[in-house]
Amino acid sequence: MTTALITGSTAGIGAAFARRLAADGHNLVLVARDTQRLREQATELHDRHGIEAEVLTADLAEDKGIEAVATRLGDRKNPVDLLINNAGFGNKGRYLDVPMADELRMLKVHCEAVLRLTSAATQAMRERGRGGVINVASVAAFVPRGTYGASKAWVVQFTQGAARDLAGSGVRLMALCPGFVRTEFHARAGMGTDNIPNWLWLDADKLVAVALTDLARGKTLSIPDPRYKALTGAARLMPQGLLGGITSKTGRKYGPQ
Ligand SMILES: NC(=O)c1ccc[n+]([C@@H]2O[C@H](COP(=O)([O-])OP(=O)(O)OC[C@H]3O[C@@H](n4cnc5c(N)ncnc54)[C@H](OP(=O)(O)O)[C@@H]3O)[C@@H](O)[C@H]2O)c1
Repeated sequence: MTTALITGSTAGIGAAFARRLAADGHNLVLVARDTQRLREQATELHDRHGIEAEVLTADLAEDKGIEAVATRLGDRKNPVDLLINNAGFGNKGRYLDVPMADELRMLKVHCEAVLRLTSAATQAMRERGRGGVINVASVAAFVPRGTYGASKAWVVQFTQGAARDLAGSGVRLMALCPGFVRTEFHARAGMGTDNIPNWLWLDADKLVAVALTDLARGKTLSIPDPRYKALTGAARLMPQGLLGGITSKTGRKYGPQ
């Protein structure tokens, strides 16, 4: 039996990964900040699928939290075969409206934690000659979208570079770039979603199914939907000024501060 560690497992895309991997018979290490919610999730997945689910409470915006997860990933006696770096969030507001402390917290969770956890996992995986890492980025990586888009662009670049450096080691890395998915993300960030057209929304379970297929195929970048493949392709051809005008409006309606 293999073991997968998922950060941000209790909601949205992370919860969809947990459901799918448990149904496929993987043991799980579930990581988030809310211990009660993690315990309920672990019990539910154990009872439903007969897998072992460990709970690891960690705040990935804190060194202590990152170190705790890195230590678990480096445990050679209880190896982790698949790491899903999924935990993430949006800040409420545009550049200069968001407090600097929140921007830095985002870089810590989206970039520093991803770097340190990917490194801890892949060192152990390289020794065993097998393993996989999915780093959840976003299609926002390809458009001008403040610190969020910049942090996700880092995830894409870092993951593809690391995948190339580890080619032939048996360790696969892939950046996953979802478009809009109905999760707790937008409500947590105080973002209104009524200006996002219905046809742009993706289903989290379908997204996860495509992501796992893409990883198995050895892809290093997964944009799991033809609509978003077309949009990101068009974005590369569009003048930057026009692109920025469109993308800075879509899905960025913030409620009262
Ligand atoms: N939803 C979208 O439209 C969308 C689109 C593209 C990319 N993404 C990316 O997909 C990933 C998952 O987002 P989601 O939409 O599923 O969000 P979500 O529903 O809000 O879930 C976020 C998860 O991350 C955990 N988390 C948040 N901050 C954390 C921290 N500091 N330390 C540890 N865990 C933390 C949360 O649990 P706790 O609060 O208990 O810690 C929760 O389990 C993110 O990286 C996001 O940027 C989302």
